[in-house]
Amino acid sequence: MLRPTEELVREHRLILSLLERLEALVDQALAAPRSPPAASLHEVLALLCLLDDLHHGKEEDWLLPALERAALPRGRVSLEVTLDEHMEARALLAELLFALGGLDLGQEVAAQDLANAAARYARLMRRHMINENEVLFPLAETTLPGEAKRALLDGFAALERELLGGAGGMDALVARIDAALENGAPAAA
Ligand SMILES: [Fe+2]
Repeated sequence: MLRPTEELVREHRLILSLLERLEALVDQALAAPRSPPAASLHEVLALLCLLDDLHHGKEEDWLLPALERAALPRGRVSLEVTLDEHMEARALLAELLFALGGLDLGQEVAAQDLANAAARYARLMRRHMINENEVLFPLAETTLPGEAKRALLDGFAALERELLGGAGGMDALVARIDAALENGAPAAA
């Protein structure tokens, strides 16, 4: 069985792959701002939004409250900063969706808005995930008792059922991400 933070690190890898794909697709949109955006751009952004709900949901609903209850060593990590970064990431995802909507409507200027938001989003998420992988998660593994870790895994599974239950669960999500990374075509629903 995976440790709870291993599950979260695995999701970070999925997000990182999608960020690279996003950056490549945004470069294409910038090179041809009059063309309608590629279908794969819609799919990659939809996947990043879904992972935001799922992954940040696991952290906000389960991991951070558990760490708060466990009274983390002061000064080692700020749960508030983690939450602030999640809010910032959501605001940037909203900006990306708005810019994509502009491209759909044929607004040439939207390509630059998309590129600006994508650059800020990718920079924020890369830094955020490195901090979690290197500081927050190791601290969680050493601080949380076994019982709390089992509760986290149960909570993560419940959130997966809630968000992905009707769509084949985590395995189906990973397959959909693989399809988006391999050929850019949206996978069949
Ligand atoms: Fe995370």
